[in-house]
Amino acid sequence: MRRRPLVVANWKMNKLPSESAAYIDKIEKPVDQFPDVIPVLAGQDVLLPGMLHAARGTNISIGAENMYWKDQGAFTGETSPAALADLGIRYVILGHSERRNYFHETNEMVNRKAHAALQHNLIPIVAIDEAIIPRNENDRSHWVVNQVIETFEGMSAQTAKTMILAYEPTDSIGSGQAMTPEIAQFALRRIRLTLADMYNWDVAQAVRIMYGGSVKPDNAYELMIQDDIDGVLVGNAALDPDQFIALCQIA
Ligand code: G3H
Repeated sequence: MRRRPLVVANWKMNKLPSESAAYIDKIEKPVDQFPDVIPVLAGQDVLLPGMLHAARGTNISIGAENMYWKDQGAFTGETSPAALADLGIRYVILGHSERRNYFHETNEMVNRKAHAALQHNLIPIVAIDEAIIPRNENDRSHWVVNQVIETFEGMSAQTAKTMILAYEPTDSIGSGQAMTPEIAQFALRRIRLTLADMYNWDVAQAVRIMYGGSVKPDNAYELMIQDDIDGVLVGNAALDPDQFIALCQIA
């Protein structure tokens, strides 16, 4: 089943406010030629107003890289889903491996964030990570499945269908070595089967699941032709607008 593919650039903590408009200016016309693809740029919070301004009137969507689950209050330094929605943000990456590893985000926190995002009509892109060397032997089969189950905790089938997932093997992130397309397909299939178990096949078929980890124009085609890969979440390569355009063309 063909789901509309996404190409999501995760700029992480890169780029300056003064650089984002030039990037968007460079990609806006070329990506317009691929109306079947959803191009999303995710940047640091401080870049978002400028990115939205530069992307106005284009088919480029802007995403945040994180948020808190509360709408307001004394949570110094956090960003609320209400503020992101008010700004006009459409997507929000949640539970990225770097958030889980460096900032100790748990599945429960990611689940709270996903619920909060959905309440504000923000589309969550939840990153599901997997260490190739498991944290311990018991983790091997359960790590990914648990993340999926706990991400969707308390979510109706109808709501679940709007979620987007991104499977990222931690050893591939930023290493230059993407997972082989066959193993990535196997991993994404396992996620889709988990959704079918939790809900039904209709939900499992509707949820878009991306692959992330050292994706670049050289390896993207083989990844994106896999049955269960509905797009790519890209860090390093997507810092270059030409590579982002190439990825949209491939998708
Ligand atoms: O969010 C993006 C991923 O962490 C992949 O990053 O493309 O630099 O490996 P990468």
